[in-house]
Amino acid sequence: MLTLGILGSGSGSNMQAILDAITVGTLQAKIAIVLSDNPKALILKRAASHGIPHAVIDCEGHKNKFPDYVQIETAEKLKQAGVDLVCLAGFMRLVKAPLLDAFPSKILNIHPSLLPAFPGVAAWAQAVEAKAKETGVTVHVVDSGMDTGPVILQEKLDILPDETADALHKRIQVIEHRIYPLAISQYAHSLNL
Ligand code: GRF
Repeated sequence: MLTLGILGSGSGSNMQAILDAITVGTLQAKIAIVLSDNPKALILKRAASHGIPHAVIDCEGHKNKFPDYVQIETAEKLKQAGVDLVCLAGFMRLVKAPLLDAFPSKILNIHPSLLPAFPGVAAWAQAVEAKAKETGVTVHVVDSGMDTGPVILQEKLDILPDETADALHKRIQVIEHRIYPLAISQYAHSLNL
């Protein structure tokens, strides 16, 4: 059985979508562990309410950095839980060598734009500010860059005239919740996981 580990910093709606896809059987997997660098994140409460093992990644006061030794600890927690594929779902720190080397080509991310356009934070707001006509959602394999790894699945979305960043983000999230479980399933099959 495909065993997932989820890393998130925020609301965890993508984690919920993955769980829902598992429940209805469109994704054959289990979530073995949910980890968050934000002790107050809703993603941890969601995990608790579903009885999924969860823990805080303690970055010891580092605001944005993901220190190497913390990445090693994170990799150990994921391995102990038997994880074969790691899914970033709104995880706000850059993953580097210690964690990437522990899970080579086995860390995925979902990003709210049509990469390579608008990498980085609040990509939906970047798209509105740039007066772009379209944006979308990308699921990709994580490498050491910021939102740069090989693309697994993308879906395009037209930006409506005068659409606010918040409204656009809501429509983007509907797509995210549909395509992330699908991309995980496709990618896992392609690797025989
Ligand atoms: C999503 O928009 C995702 O694309 C981005 O961060 C957001 C996380 O949302 N990387 P959630 O925590 O899954 O609700």
